[in-house]
Amino acid sequence: PHSVLYKGLMLPALVHSTESLRYAQLGFQVRDRDIFSVTYPKSGTTWMQELLTLIHSDGDPQLAQSVPSWERVPWVEQTTAAGFLENRPCPRLISSHLPCGLFPTSLHGSNAKVIYTVRNPKDVCVSLYYYSKMASFLEFPEDFGEFVELFSAGKVLFGSWFQHVKGWLGLRDRLNFLLLTYEEMHQDLRGSVERICQFLGKPLEARALDGVVENASFQAMKQNRMCNYSLVPENIMDQRISPFLRKGVPGDWKGHFTVAQSQAFDRLYQEQMQDVGIRFPWDEA
Ligand code: A3P
Repeated sequence: PHSVLYKGLMLPALVHSTESLRYAQLGFQVRDRDIFSVTYPKSGTTWMQELLTLIHSDGDPQLAQSVPSWERVPWVEQTTAAGFLENRPCPRLISSHLPCGLFPTSLHGSNAKVIYTVRNPKDVCVSLYYYSKMASFLEFPEDFGEFVELFSAGKVLFGSWFQHVKGWLGLRDRLNFLLLTYEEMHQDLRGSVERICQFLGKPLEARALDGVVENASFQAMKQNRMCNYSLVPENIMDQRISPFLRKGVPGDWKGHFTVAQSQAFDRLYQEQMQDVGIRFPWDEA
């Protein structure tokens, strides 16, 4: 069994259970000083885990190089052991892939910070395709064309990209919320780190900022065993099939979507996103 079905959502069974999901939604108590990094999968989750760790370490890579990323900034939905997140010092750094409807309900009314990172869905689709091939806990995709169909229909882990993004963006005025894109992080990492620091109320000196930017580069992260997933056994993630830190660029979709697939996806995108009212780096004129 590859997946758990929870309230209509498909999630990988390896790290999720009905208990962990129910606890995340209803049992987990959000605190005002909590800092959440929320992403649809393959949108820059690991990158944000690295950035948050490094910002909180004032650019010193020691922690990022000695503790796995998933323990430094754990996913709330994967927590079953009572006390695991409860006993962490504040501010707690927490990841989540949950759509807003399944998120801890105690977020609402709290002053916790939410950083939502969004990425061009075509690149998310490509990244998820390769990830599905290398991760044995996901359904192995037949071919790319078929995978685009599944992705477009939301028949992949964590459901529809459109619903995830629209759901969270719909809450942005009601929460303590920062919207970032993978593309702007790639274009200007230093500027993005400064925006994050400002949002967190944690300004960094130039040298600390240098440390963050250097250690969160694609190359540095690829070398870091604590975030490149080489600690995960090969029978779970086979990086010979495709490395976890695979390409790390915007626009890789152009080498994967056919013209017809791209046009069909654009039509769906228009239809789904017309009311969102935000221009993204990939929405060229
Ligand atoms: P690609 O498969 O396109 O290379 P997530 O962490 O949400 O699973 O997302 C993984 C994607 O983020 C992968 O995309 C990975 O290479 C990319 N990524 C991770 N760290 C990065 C970095 N420092 N710079 C650019 N891309 C990065």
